[in-house]
Amino acid sequence: RRHASRQKFAQDFSQCLYDFVIQLLPTTEELAVKEDVRKLLERLIRTIELDSRLLSFGSTANGFSLRNSDMDLCCLIDSEERLSATDLVNMLGDLLERETKFHVKPLPHARIPIVKLSLDPAPGLPFGIACDIGFENRLALENTRLLMCYAMIDPARVRTMVLFLKVWSKRRKINSPYKGTLSSYGYVLLVIYFLVHVKSPPVLPNLQQVPPLRPISKEDTHLNGHNIWFFDDIELLRQRWKSSNTESVAELLIDFFKYYSRDFNYSSGVASIRAGLLKKDSKGWVSEAEKGSPRERNRLCIEDPFETDFNVARCVTRDGLYTIRGEFMRASRILSSRPERAIVALAQLCE
Ligand code: CTP
Ligand code: MG
Repeated sequence: RRHASRQKFAQDFSQCLYDFVIQLLPTTEELAVKEDVRKLLERLIRTIELDSRLLSFGSTANGFSLRNSDMDLCCLIDSEERLSATDLVNMLGDLLERETKFHVKPLPHARIPIVKLSLDPAPGLPFGIACDIGFENRLALENTRLLMCYAMIDPARVRTMVLFLKVWSKRRKINSPYKGTLSSYGYVLLVIYFLVHVKSPPVLPNLQQVPPLRPISKEDTHLNGHNIWFFDDIELLRQRWKSSNTESVAELLIDFFKYYSRDFNYSSGVASIRAGLLKKDSKGWVSEAEKGSPRERNRLCIEDPFETDFNVARCVTRDGLYTIRGEFMRASRILSSRPERAIVALAQLCE
């Protein structure tokens, strides 16, 4: 009887998750407006740098986009002599201020110089647009492509899980690196890590470890000293790779919360989608608090897939991690109590 009731709950909850996520996807109209904005901005940037391209990355390009999410744009300049990012940010800021209706905020001295833009709500654009333009961030374009490939291998389960976690983490207010919690990018990596390395049998293959079809030279695989190769022939992969894991999206999500509330070793572990579970010690990512510094960098450790010396969760503070783990536990508790109706569980989760 208990098994049957668990099955029934998982089935209902999976359906609820699909229905919930679908209504949060961006409309085709929104996508079209955003593409128009990208083209307009690209045209303007070309008046400063003729050989430039403006590309989307982040959620607008990786298949994990929610309605009204921000646009992340990256400007690539193909010519040899180009202006510094700081000069470009200043010039582009001035130009956009003169030529467009955007609110413009250039941040030329940020760690990664960007121009922030926003557009007020208007008919057909009820939430306005927020957009960041950065320069030469080629690694971000590549990690966006990696996430997109993971999404395409098993869209029903992977996209549903990721989109749900993004909404959930925003509603529960644990999605802001500025306030000591984790970015969306960090949550996506936690999901992929779980599906590649924790679940057995795995739901996803490790795209960075699938052998290449033909030998490739080092120049083709490295960017700024980072190995950015991964298996990206998704059509072929879909023909050849079929996961023998048949768990439903609800079962996976329940297990995800359970794993991150009690099984993942936060004090010594590093989640790496490239290499599986690593040790903080072996990466030199010991907590700076332990070294007597008030700054906390390595409470939660998630290795970037390409920039392997970069901890994606470095902004997560002690309090932030405490709150995040508390939320994982809360979610786990709600789901294991299996309320009578799955929809009630979903509402409670995102309260
Ligand atoms: N990124 C990165 N390193 C980080 C954070 C982000 O390289 N530490 C890049 C990634 O390419 C990521 C993109 O910036 O895909 C956007 O990150 P983020 O805004 O966290 O994710 P989104 O999927 O865009 O989520 P949201 O819809 O919440 O904006
Ligand atoms: Mg974004």
